Amino acid sequence: MSGRRVGFCLSEKKRRRMNLDAFAEFCAGHGVEVVKIDLTQPLVPQGPFDVIIHKLSDVIVEAEHDSQSQQLLANFQNYVSAHPSTALLDPLPAMTQLLDRFASYRIMSKLHNSLRDWRICSPPYLEIYSATDLSSIHQAVMSQGLSFPLICKTRVAHGSLSHEMSLIFSVGSLADVHPPCVLQSFVNHGAILHKVFVVGDRHFCVERPSLKNFPSGPCDRKTIFFNSHQVSKPESSSDLTSLDEQMPRLPLPSSEAVAALARELRAQLGMALFGVDVIINIHTHTLSVIDINIFPGYEGVPQFFSSLLSHIESVLDKQTSAGPQATGSLESTHTTGGPSAV
Ligand SMILES: Nc1ncnc2c1ncn2[C@@H]1O[C@H](COP(=O)(O)OP(=O)(O)OP(=O)(O)O)[C@@H](O)[C@H]1O
Ligand SMILES: [Mg+2]
Repeated sequence: MSGRRVGFCLSEKKRRRMNLDAFAEFCAGHGVEVVKIDLTQPLVPQGPFDVIIHKLSDVIVEAEHDSQSQQLLANFQNYVSAHPSTALLDPLPAMTQLLDRFASYRIMSKLHNSLRDWRICSPPYLEIYSATDLSSIHQAVMSQGLSFPLICKTRVAHGSLSHEMSLIFSVGSLADVHPPCVLQSFVNHGAILHKVFVVGDRHFCVERPSLKNFPSGPCDRKTIFFNSHQVSKPESSSDLTSLDEQMPRLPLPSSEAVAALARELRAQLGMALFGVDVIINIHTHTLSVIDINIFPGYEGVPQFFSSLLSHIESVLDKQTSAGPQATGSLESTHTTGGPSAV
């Protein structure tokens, strides 16, 4: 029966992680057919699809330098353009910008304007394009109001290297940055990360371990290099995440503020499946947004299957009532601003 066929274009690893087979079974019980899309094979015979859900992050990043990935991506894009009645979750341009921290941090840095009433912000940051002299970095750090310690993250936000980060404690250690990267003020947050998982118009908040507090201001401590997956996975536990002192328990993020954040980002990005990482400043209790993730793992969200199915059903319903129209082809509406860069 047409009208209820959903293609999933995911890597083998992502399929396993989200347990696509179990999801397909769950959907079958509700009259929705789930089909695995093989990107290496012609797409037309695999269709038709009413909805395609994908996570092509690997392919998009590899397409920068690999002609085979370029071809796979072009085939996918051609198929999507030739089938405007197939809804795409999520639009490729919206996703692509989140693979670049320069782009995603510009989006985060504008949130405090649109969410003025909710005391939501993102920590000040600096884009570093290429190897440059320390004094220009230092000047930019000061003029942009960044404060030590600084956290340094690669520009590319996807792939194993993207999780290699460092904590920089002094001007002299700015020599440890490896451009292209972002430098961001480290915000003390009591070692608790709040992961907000968005599925269409629903969202869920899950707590995770996070980096511990560090004394504010420069000090002569050596740069700490770490992998973020040793820090904020559900099972993470390391010296970097255990608080030295007894910290009074911070308030939970206000549910209204989190709802406003999820709503605002959903509208701005034109995306339905994403995650937002939020920390709470221990001094000001302000919500600080530090990361936006494409189609995350939804670990710790038992309602994920039912929420995803209900989002798919709402997309299918819109298609039925609106006639042939690309429900998922919302382009990102954000405009780029002028951040500081070195
Ligand atoms: N500005 C900041 N202040 C304090 N801690 C931070 C800051 N930015 C990042 N962190 C810590 O570093 C961890 C990794 O940062 P981030 O979420 O940006 O990286 P990631 O590797 O892209 O994460 P993900 O696994 O969600 O893709 C966070 O979970 C948090 O513990
Ligand atoms: Mg993160």
